[in-house]
Amino acid sequence: MELPNHGANPLRLYKQAGISPPPQILDFSENVHPFGPPAFLEEIWPDMLGLTGSYPDPDGEPFRTAAAKFHDVAAGEVAAGNGAAEIFTWLARRYRSRQVVLIEPAFSEYRQTLEAENVQIKALQLVPENGWQLTVQDVRNIIPGCAALYICNPHNPTGTLLDTDTLQEIAQICLEHHCELVIDEAFIDFIGEEASFMPFLPAFPNVFIVRSMTKMYAIPGLRLGYVVSAAEKIGQLKQGAAHWNVNALSAVIGAKCLGEADYRRNVIQAASGERRKMQQFLAANNCRSTDSAVNFLSFQLPDSSCSAAFFTDFLKAGIVLRHTESFQGMDGNWFRIGMKSTENMAKLREAIKEWLKAN
Ligand SMILES: Cc1ncc(COP(=O)(O)O)c(C=O)c1O
Repeated sequence: MELPNHGANPLRLYKQAGISPPPQILDFSENVHPFGPPAFLEEIWPDMLGLTGSYPDPDGEPFRTAAAKFHDVAAGEVAAGNGAAEIFTWLARRYRSRQVVLIEPAFSEYRQTLEAENVQIKALQLVPENGWQLTVQDVRNIIPGCAALYICNPHNPTGTLLDTDTLQEIAQICLEHHCELVIDEAFIDFIGEEASFMPFLPAFPNVFIVRSMTKMYAIPGLRLGYVVSAAEKIGQLKQGAAHWNVNALSAVIGAKCLGEADYRRNVIQAASGERRKMQQFLAANNCRSTDSAVNFLSFQLPDSSCSAAFFTDFLKAGIVLRHTESFQGMDGNWFRIGMKSTENMAKLREAIKEWLKAN
C-alpha cells in the first residue's frame, strides 16, 4: 500500500489506502494542536480583507522585525518564509550538488528538497535501542567532507530533545569541519525558548535555525516560518526566493502571534499533560513509546508484526494515526500521534485498549 509522506489531509490517506472514509474522522496524524489560533485572529479577521488589495512587504514585514525582537537579534539576521517548508527549498539550493548529512528517521521534506537539487545524502540512522539518541561521536564520524548537517530538535517523529550543551559541541565540530549546521526548531515552542539554540548563534556563524509558526499558533493554512543566522548568510539564502513570498495576512498575524505569551503557556501545559497521560497509558499496555518532550510521540505495539492490521482497523474505525512507512528505521512498525483534545485523547486510549484486548 502506497501511503502519503505527510500526516494531515486524511482524505488523501483514505483514498491512497483504498478505504472509504467513515463520516466521523479523528485525525491524530498531524501535529498541530487542537486549541485553535489565538483569539485575536477572529477579532481582526474583518480587517484582513483590506490587506488583500496590495502587494505585501517583500521582507515579510511586520513579521520579520517582530521575530527579530522576539529573539533579540537584528532584523537582517531573519528571513521570513512561506512556512518552514519554503526555507528548506532555499537551503537545498545552497547545498546543490554537494553532500549533506540527514539524521534518519527524518521529516520527509529534507530529503525531497535536497534530492531536487542533486544533493548527495549521507544518512545517520538513529535506533530505538538507545532511545533514538544522536551522539556527538556519530556526528564526528560522519561529517568530514559534508557541506551541512540537518538536525531536527526536538526530533520529528520521536519528539526527543537534544540539550543545548550537546548541540554546542556538535556545532563546534561542524565549525571545525567547515560544515554548516541546520537546526529545525519547528516544535521547540512546545518546550519554550529555554530549549532553543538561539542564544548561541553569535558564537556559531555556521548555524541556521529554522522555525515554524504553524505548530504553536495552529495556523498551518496561512504558511509562515522563518530562519535566523548571520546577516550575510541570510542575504545569500534569500537570493532566488520569490519576491513576495510571504502574504500580507500572514505577516500581520504572525507578528501579533509572537506577543501571545499566555496562549503559549496554556498550549504547552495542555499538550504536555495529554502527552504524559498517553505515555503512562502506553507503558501500562506494554507499548514502547518514545521519550518525547513535545506535543506528539511515537509508539509501537507489544507485537509490532500486527502493525499493518492495527493501522487499517483504525482507519476503518475513523481514527487516523501517522504511519511510519516513510520514516527510515521505523518502517511502519511505529505510529506517531499528535496530542489533541482531552476528550479525543481518551477516545484514542479506549480504542487502543479495545483493539489490544481483541487481538
Ligand atoms: C519537523 C518539521 N519541520 C518543518 C515543518 C514545516 O513546517 P511549516 O508548516 O512551517 O512549513 C514540519 C511540518 O510538518 C515539520 O514536521
